[in-house]
Amino acid sequence: MLDNKGFDLWSDDYDKSVNLSEQDNDYPFAGYRDVLNTIYNQIRVKNEAKILDIGFGTGVLTKRLYDDGYEIWGIDFSEKMIEISREKMPEAKLIQYDFSKGIPDELVDENFDFIISTYALHHLNETEKVKFLTKLLDLLNNKGMILIGDVAFETRKMHDKCKSDCGEDNWDDEEFYLVFDEIEKSFKEVEFTQISHCAGVLRLSNKIVDKRNILDDEVFTYKITKDKKVFISWRGKQVTTLSGKKGEEFIRKIEDADFLEKQLIMAKETGNFKRGNEKGRGK
Ligand SMILES: C[S@@+](CC[C@H](N)C(=O)[O-])C[C@H]1O[C@@H](n2cnc3c(N)ncnc32)[C@H](O)[C@@H]1O
Repeated sequence: MLDNKGFDLWSDDYDKSVNLSEQDNDYPFAGYRDVLNTIYNQIRVKNEAKILDIGFGTGVLTKRLYDDGYEIWGIDFSEKMIEISREKMPEAKLIQYDFSKGIPDELVDENFDFIISTYALHHLNETEKVKFLTKLLDLLNNKGMILIGDVAFETRKMHDKCKSDCGEDNWDDEEFYLVFDEIEKSFKEVEFTQISHCAGVLRLSNKIVDKRNILDDEVFTYKITKDKKVFISWRGKQVTTLSGKKGEEFIRKIEDADFLEKQLIMAKETGNFKRGNEKGRGK
């Protein structure tokens, strides 16, 4: 498995070698452009978005989004990849970090509309992937989405067929490819699209479900003070205070939200309805 120095060495040739593998419709990059386009088109539905790219590499996908005016953040552990991408996207917030260690400190208080990753997460095994993706779900805004494009298969049978078709010598046994029907049980809101014989796009979100329609009543209310502190109340009783970055983020989200969205945002902030599980605070 390549470490950050390995990716440093690959960085100058990366785009060329990906193109060759893609043109020949070969594992591992068959369908590469379509994977990136699928993610790009999904994001373009929104005019404004804050996006985090995990393992952005030479910035093939992120640069397009950057040029379209989206706010770009990224993590990569290769100094050379960061150098190449920084030149293309000077305003992007690019962080050097090894994602096998989790989420960098710079991101714990941030929220994103989209978290994307292409051809990078196969460096984590399935348990590590589930753990990492679960942490990423917590960085999503209300209605946010994680989009993962990678070497990926709907079933283990398809994975094994691809492995035997391409031959032991060409197959990288040190990488862990996503198998949808094995990983889907770990998430509530999850979808998968197979794009080529060896690539696919996984979508994850935190759809918050108000199963008992409690939020149709105005159970949550909020007040914003002059110094931008936010006080959230549940049925008239103050339950949460947000200040600093958290408060600003809340104000930004709440301003554009409709009635039910406002209720869901406040439910999420107070931890009441996390991922569809109402914790059932008493009336
Ligand atoms: C195959 S490239 C993919 C680049 C780009 N996303 C694309 O689709 O072309 C994988 C990228 O992930 C980065 N990467 C791999 N493992 C990583 C890790 N543990 N932490 C941070 N970055 C990592 C590499 O440095 C490299 O830039």
